[in-house]
Amino acid sequence: MQQLQNISLLPYNTFGIDVTAEHFADVNALADLQELPAGLPLHILGGGSNILLTGQVHGLVLHNKLKGIAVVRENDDHVWLSVASGEVWHDFVLHTIEMGLGGIENLALIPGTVGAAPIQNIGAYGTEVKQTIEDVSFWHLSERTLVTLSNAECHFGYRDSIFKTQLRGQFFITSVTFRLNKKPVLNTSYGAIEQELNEVGIAHPTVKDVAQAVIRIRTSKLPDPKVTGNAGSFFKNPTIPLAHYKMLQAAYPSIPHYPVSDDTVKVPAAWLIEQCGWKGHRTGDAGVHTKQALVLVNYGHASGNEIWQLSGDIIDSVANRFNISLEREVQVW
Ligand code: FAD
Ligand code: EPU
Repeated sequence: MQQLQNISLLPYNTFGIDVTAEHFADVNALADLQELPAGLPLHILGGGSNILLTGQVHGLVLHNKLKGIAVVRENDDHVWLSVASGEVWHDFVLHTIEMGLGGIENLALIPGTVGAAPIQNIGAYGTEVKQTIEDVSFWHLSERTLVTLSNAECHFGYRDSIFKTQLRGQFFITSVTFRLNKKPVLNTSYGAIEQELNEVGIAHPTVKDVAQAVIRIRTSKLPDPKVTGNAGSFFKNPTIPLAHYKMLQAAYPSIPHYPVSDDTVKVPAAWLIEQCGWKGHRTGDAGVHTKQALVLVNYGHASGNEIWQLSGDIIDSVANRFNISLEREVQVW
């Protein structure tokens, strides 16, 4: 494994933050992980689409370039694919669509790598990746062994998994096995998908039609990181007690909500942030996207600390007005 020194991370993060990594190396094979040097703090980098860099990164940045997709099992209903963690997520989605397989079409166009997908259980348009994951394999950094966890052992939740809790900082995900459907069951329940399909006159959609509808919706709403730096939703959508929601509803009858359980509901953080007047806000080059209040943006040369400061100001104002604590989704380095 070849180590480089003082490498700019500008091309490696979608927020477009210009900081350097003290040491940087590509991981091309499992053998590279077996030979990792001891004593350096390790930082694992996929597509850099869910990180905020707030200063020089000390230690060794491991850039995941593990590649390969293989069919490992098949029956009348399903195909199991083992996918190396450095594969680009959207390319993998397109690959499964070309194979006629269903399961991850609603997750089209999410940036990043396959290996990062289980960490926050990526989700969009009524689907979460946990619905198709069979197992996840990782290199345990301190025990120096390869471990495989079943779906149940990953403790998936909304934007959450064991990789963000008990195993935090201890693993390099090497591959993910997916179970996909030969007889796809489409999920077009998310309002905008139905509407998009109707608009183009598709009554009996295929997996490809659904993916294309998702791609069109996403392109119209979310900023393209190649044009404007961002990391998608900066915050998670908060879940609050039903009683709290009822109080807010009395004051704000239009507050959107989604039931989570009998006594909790989720409210869109974008709505809370917009109500506080932040949508379209800009301080220097750090801002809140004009079309989606949940997305913080870098208009050019914002520093990670400026974005961090803005996110803190948003958290404070939402807490003051609604008594709700927003939690950051983006991983801060
Ligand atoms: P990185 O940003 O490189 O890493 C994220 C974290 O995971 C870091 O802490 C890193 O150390 C760790 N990590 C990454 N790979 C590994 C590995 N192999 N082993 C161990 N640790 C690892 N997310 C959604 O869920 N739904 C969306 O709809 C969505 N839309 C987005 C839209 C845009 C425009 C953008 C920019 C982002 C969006 N995201 C969305 C967030 C992001 O795409 C996902 O979180 C994605 O899975 C991150 O992948 P990555 O490879 O870029 O991870
Ligand atoms: N809304 C506003 N103002 C806005 C935007 C949205 O009030 O500026 C309200 C509207 O009521 C809208 C609701 O918020 O109906 C939800 O908005 P949207 O459908 O755009 O979804 P979101 O909650 O903002 C979540 C995910 C996205 C995912 C989309 C689509 C989280 C944190 N975010 O966003 O994931 O793509 O749903 O399923 O759960 C990501 O995680 O990075 C991400 C982009």
